[in-house]
Amino acid sequence: MKLQDTGLTFEDIKNKVDTYMIETYERFDFLADHAKGVYMYDENDTPYLDFYAGIAVNAVGNCNEKVVKAVQDQAATLMQTFNYPYTVPQALLAEKICKAIGMDKIFYQNSGTEANEAMIKMARKYGVEKYGPEKYHIVTARESFHGRTFGAMSATGQPDNACQIGFGPMTEGFSYAPFNDLEAFKAACTENTIGIMVEPVQGEGGVHPATQEFLQGLREFCDEKGILLLLDEVQSGWGRTGALMSYMNYGIKPDIVSMAKAMGGGMPIGAICATSEVSKAFTMGSHGTTFGGHPVCCAASLAAVTEIIDRDLPGNAKKVGAYFIDELSKLPHVKEARGQGLFVGVEFDGTINAVDVKHGCFDRKLLITAIGNDVIRMVPPLIITEEDVDKAVAIIADTIESLSK
Ligand SMILES: Cc1ncc(COP(=O)(O)O)c(C=O)c1O
Repeated sequence: MKLQDTGLTFEDIKNKVDTYMIETYERFDFLADHAKGVYMYDENDTPYLDFYAGIAVNAVGNCNEKVVKAVQDQAATLMQTFNYPYTVPQALLAEKICKAIGMDKIFYQNSGTEANEAMIKMARKYGVEKYGPEKYHIVTARESFHGRTFGAMSATGQPDNACQIGFGPMTEGFSYAPFNDLEAFKAACTENTIGIMVEPVQGEGGVHPATQEFLQGLREFCDEKGILLLLDEVQSGWGRTGALMSYMNYGIKPDIVSMAKAMGGGMPIGAICATSEVSKAFTMGSHGTTFGGHPVCCAASLAAVTEIIDRDLPGNAKKVGAYFIDELSKLPHVKEARGQGLFVGVEFDGTINAVDVKHGCFDRKLLITAIGNDVIRMVPPLIITEEDVDKAVAIIADTIESLSK
């Protein structure tokens, strides 16, 4: 639905949102009216270069033609069934994903936080049933972000963040250790630990990739102690980091991995993939969802994942991402430009504020996000070219220059 079809103005839309919606978001002063590829457009057809992509969602580009067609065809064929009958999109997607990322089994959810709930539940049930009632503890990283439902929120190692404050006690059974500190993770594990859960690239924590030593060390430690390695690839998964899944960059495999965002090509879908052995913890009736595995979302995801693989978007992310980070590193007031593939963060030297940079870029028609006051994050569609990067870097440079005057 476009604004021109409604007879309303942008002001009317903003008034309705103010009046009727519960607002927890700091919005851009911008109506996302329509979108294509690496651009979003307002109601006047003004293009905005989209370097946040729905926060790492629109990996195959906004309104990707193959995804749009898959959605249209599936919506006209079979919309929702619950999980009683078999459906074609679920089955085809399951095979595609498991084979592509080297995992045995998949369980569909609707979002990242739900995928993490499933991952936590599966690990706990596996531990309790295999080892005993106390074996359900999970160690996660400080500054992590795993979502906003109770299990995922409790796994999130940010007690001072608005996402945890005021909600009463967190779910019991989690402890936290500093990211990229292997010895601290080892020390945080007890005889009751069943899982270690981390993001291979901490996103909300400020775009920090795990070191090879850390992730490989966790894998070896987990193997030694019979602990499950649980990877949250909700943001890092599906091509963003230069590999289909970030763990592939490290030459390791998790016991369970959660995913969402990019896998749906813009439609809401999440999932966990697990090894055969661990997946047996989920038995008949032990877990479920009304919408998880929705035929339209699975059809969209099949189209998106196929695009990511067939067009080698991880390869593009690796190449263009390296160029992007290189160019960003040359800008003034940049303390560090870092990331993995097209999962990119810039930390400033404290003399300019990241939120001001975000607003300045918005004024110049580049969409990015800020994490706190020091870091801007860019997770553009994986189809971007070096020319798109040049445009974005020029805007960021101009913004920095005007802020440092
Ligand atoms: C690493 C990670 N895990 C989980 C989530 C939660 O995903 P969702 O917003 O789809 O629930 C996010 C969202 O940003 C994320 O980045």
